[in-house]
Amino acid sequence: MDVIEAIRTRKSIRGYKPDPVPKEVLKEILEIATRSPSGMNTQPWEITVVAGDVLNNIRRGNIEAMTSGKLPNPDIQIETYEGIYRQRQIELAVQIFQLMGIAREDREARNAWMQRGFRFFDAPAAIILSLDKSLGTWPPLSDIGALAQTICLAAMNYGLGTCINGQGIMFPEVVRKFTGIPESKRMILCIAIGYPDWDFLANKLVSKREPLENNTTWHGFD
Ligand SMILES: Cc1cc2nc3c(=O)[nH]c(=O)nc-3n(C[C@H](O)[C@H](O)[C@H](O)COP(=O)(O)O)c2cc1C
Repeated sequence: MDVIEAIRTRKSIRGYKPDPVPKEVLKEILEIATRSPSGMNTQPWEITVVAGDVLNNIRRGNIEAMTSGKLPNPDIQIETYEGIYRQRQIELAVQIFQLMGIAREDREARNAWMQRGFRFFDAPAAIILSLDKSLGTWPPLSDIGALAQTICLAAMNYGLGTCINGQGIMFPEVVRKFTGIPESKRMILCIAIGYPDWDFLANKLVSKREPLENNTTWHGFD
């Protein structure tokens, strides 16, 4: 697949076919994607790939934690957004809810949508990216971002869709219970991965982007 086409057409996939992703395919994607750059080539990423019973147990654990009223306690602090950032966040939710036919006041449907995220969007596999707790924020966090996007792009070559997300690892104790990821590692993000269900309405979303002139300045050009 052409790299520009992959970048242009990649989108977050939030509905998947149940078909499993062969381990060999996931391995190939990760072998390619770990060509990603990292600060001083430190390659700080720790990659945990989950599928089958393990992933189902995590899904169940996440939903149990959520429905028991437990507050999410991710390994990495999540900031609340304000101003234009909050606006964009709301805009995304509005777009998704519109596509899914979820009314603003329908708390039950909104809750069900949230649970979907905590279930890794029912994807057949997920990739969790972690960092050793001894590492600071930069460049390792940037390295994780580069790897995550590269995984998503490489996956497209195999007809796979992805959704980078934080929801799946909001209850890290659940993920630790079923994967053995030690306390010395910080889970940064996870990527749901599988074959897209193109009939799933939220997959029709094309998220917005700010025009370049709103976020880019040029210096030294004619
Ligand atoms: C670090 C990170 C965390 C994200 N967490 C979530 C999440 O928890 N739930 C979700 O539905 N999407 C999540 N997303 C996906 C974004 O909402 C999505 O990338 C953004 O809306 C742009 O849409 P696109 O990926 O379709 O281009 C996350 C993306 C990133 C990069």
